Amino acid sequence: MSLVIAIDGPSGSGKSSVSKAVARALGVGYLDTGAMYRALTWWCLEEGIDLTDRDAVAQAALVLPLEMGTDPADPRVSVAGKPVDAEIRTTELSSVVSTVATNLDVREEMRRLQRALMAEISERTGGVVTEGRDITTVVAPDADVRILLTASEEARLRRRSAELHGEASASSIDATRDQIVRRDQEDSTVSVFTEAADGVVLVDTSDLDFEQSVAAVLAVVSAAQERE
Ligand code: DC
Repeated sequence: MSLVIAIDGPSGSGKSSVSKAVARALGVGYLDTGAMYRALTWWCLEEGIDLTDRDAVAQAALVLPLEMGTDPADPRVSVAGKPVDAEIRTTELSSVVSTVATNLDVREEMRRLQRALMAEISERTGGVVTEGRDITTVVAPDADVRILLTASEEARLRRRSAELHGEASASSIDATRDQIVRRDQEDSTVSVFTEAADGVVLVDTSDLDFEQSVAAVLAVVSAAQERE
């Protein structure tokens, strides 16, 4: 029996760190689907592909030489054998990744890849925690556990600002706004991740710290397992 857990949510909801901790606690693999869109974006820029050229970017998605690390303690991402973990997290890349992630042909290929990776990880480790924006609704609507991890806009801005600038002052919160609010607005045009779909459990982390957020998700997993 394998345990497939799908976690969606907006930027700054704590999705990545919580998903990794949950995968570690359960001893299963981890898949960061946002990192896949980021890696494709990085590769297109590297290859000189115009991100607004939808056909060219979709074509690149079909041949992307991507390797996704699935160990939640150290999930490395490589493209054509080159580690790109730092490159895919820069502010510059974050500001253009939505252009690639809103390309519907790209999404079709990415979803196919994500389903294949989830099956492989699950088989190998006994389960998988997959995080993104459309995992609970489109990629894995039949997952054993489906969670929408949210937090108020204020809490998300505060967290991401502290992460990016090491502080949460008014000026760094303003600088972070583009990374969170504008990007989520763009991404919302192709996925629904602000409201929980039928059967998806909402976990609001606005007033929870990291440990409490992990415990809240693990409680949802236990409750789902008890129901089986
Ligand atoms: O979670 P993140 O910031 O690393 O995601 C990077 C981009 O990919 C962001 O624009 C949202 C998008 N994304 C998506 O559209 N669908 C997913 N399943 C995961 C991420």
